Amino acid sequence: MAQLFAEGVEEGGLRCRFLALRALRIRPCLGCGQCARPPHACPLSGDDAEALFTEIMAAKLVFWAAPVYFYGLPAHAKSCVDRAQRFWNDPPSGPARPAVAGLVAGRPRGEQLFTGATLGLRYFFPLLGRELAETRCWRGMEEPGDWQKEENGCSRAESVRQWGRQWAQRLTEDADRATP
Ligand SMILES: Cc1cc2nc3c(=O)[nH]c(=O)nc-3n(C[C@H](O)[C@H](O)[C@H](O)COP(=O)(O)O)c2cc1C
Repeated sequence: MAQLFAEGVEEGGLRCRFLALRALRIRPCLGCGQCARPPHACPLSGDDAEALFTEIMAAKLVFWAAPVYFYGLPAHAKSCVDRAQRFWNDPPSGPARPAVAGLVAGRPRGEQLFTGATLGLRYFFPLLGRELAETRCWRGMEEPGDWQKEENGCSRAESVRQWGRQWAQRLTEDADRATP
């Protein structure tokens, strides 16, 4: 899904950087409490978490793609979310930039299917100076071929590409408006 969204963004004229959380080394938060005190540093910070946070804070837009595992985020994503705890007592200042999430789940039904993952991300992003501006969710997703299923007159894959194009357009228009 991240690849499809990135294709749309690039068709819309912006460049993307793709990061696979599974390829990063992010150790899980141990709740030691050290980051609650100045300088709010994490004793685990020799891994890839800080570099990832720097990228997330610097980007114009962050698109976060994740499957639902046991009604929440998968372990790699959850480790990353938990490590942002170090910003709880030292949050970045300034206006929040947007983040967008695309979630998939295997089950075709379930009122609360995306609630856990969505709430986790909603409270994670502000710690990195972002707000979760939009979330879209797809159910009944078990294999890559499910992206070819038709919905509202086009494939799910094409609707993700369109979504990326729309965001690229929106960011470009915002930048044009901000230019004197
Ligand atoms: C460990 C695990 C837990 C899962 N838990 C759920 C779940 O709670 N609800 C659900 O609808 N699907 C669940 N699924 C199915 C996945 O959401 C679905 O297969 C998704 O498309 C997997 O994406 P991936 O191939 O990128 O991991 C689970 C799959 C795995 C492997």
